[in-house]
Amino acid sequence: MKLGTLVLENNLLLAPLQKVTTAPYRRFCREFGKIGLVSVPMLYTKRIQNNPRSVLSDLHKIEKERPISVQLIGSDPIALRESIDFLESYQFDVLDINAGCPSKKAIKAKEGGYLLNDLKKLSSLIKIATKYSSHLVSLKIRTGFKNSDNINNLAKIVNKSSVDFITIHGRTVKDRFVDTALDLKAVKRLKELLKIPVVGNGNINSPQSAKLFLDFTKVDAIMIGRESMGNPEIFHQINTYLKEGVEQILNNNLTKLKKHIELYEHCINNYLYENIEFPYPIERYKFVELKRNSIWLTKNIHPSTEIRTKISLTKTLDELRDIFEQIFDN
Ligand SMILES: Cc1cc2nc3c(=O)[nH]c(=O)nc-3n(C[C@H](O)[C@H](O)[C@H](O)COP(=O)(O)O)c2cc1C
Repeated sequence: MKLGTLVLENNLLLAPLQKVTTAPYRRFCREFGKIGLVSVPMLYTKRIQNNPRSVLSDLHKIEKERPISVQLIGSDPIALRESIDFLESYQFDVLDINAGCPSKKAIKAKEGGYLLNDLKKLSSLIKIATKYSSHLVSLKIRTGFKNSDNINNLAKIVNKSSVDFITIHGRTVKDRFVDTALDLKAVKRLKELLKIPVVGNGNINSPQSAKLFLDFTKVDAIMIGRESMGNPEIFHQINTYLKEGVEQILNNNLTKLKKHIELYEHCINNYLYENIEFPYPIERYKFVELKRNSIWLTKNIHPSTEIRTKISLTKTLDELRDIFEQIFDN
């Protein structure tokens, strides 16, 4: 399938999830099945402007993960321009502009989801991105700020721009993550209004929900976020279901958990020891990555709560390893 001129192996995208979809995480998910496009979570344009070194670890070795997208969040045109210039030396495929983040910090700074309230500003940022970036440009939005009334105006702006594709999370900014607020009708409407490919996102947590989303909205591709946390097989499950109608059930157990943790560690090590020096203390980085992910990977494993509690109390990599030994030797 194609998003703009970018050819992807399939129509499944891994969502940008701040502090979650790190390089080891993205590589780990890709070990389980094909993912058309992965994304570096949002980088603040102001941070890049003030201290570019602070984002080096986020961009470390991204050229090894192509096709990959890098997302920027910010509302200051100069910071955006400077961030784009800074990113030009990196090899990646898509520059994504965040116009959906509902965090208090983003709304206060008039960036992310706030931009859906200020289409003039959004339009000017799109112009900068499409003019100065040599990469494809995409936009990640929600259905609107308080409601989806602005969708027609937004579509007009996007249709006049040279944005290559758009991702829409089917909720308003105000609705944050409220389950019942998912509005597939608004996603479908946007798809009908736009000339460019549309990626749909929101609550896709099973092969069935993926099919339902695609069938109802007719979007070109789908993006999966939270379900991948603890279920890296979701992409493979969806792919198999869409292609062959075969359902693969998540069947976690301790043997699988052990394998997953070993594989995750392998992904961290490969990432850290690839040629250039990693700009952060390695032991700490490994510990934080491994701890966070080993907790998620206990999803559906008995006794999950007990294992999670033990893991969550660890404070060092050695303690974490001791706990793994205890868990797997019993
Ligand atoms: C922990 C977390 C971090 C997120 N970080 C980002 C981000 O950096 N950029 C972004 O566009 N969306 C971010 N999102 C939103 C997701 O990309 C996605 O749109 C949302 O989770 C809905 O998809 P899902 O139901 O498949 O998780 C984040 C969501 C979560 C839960």
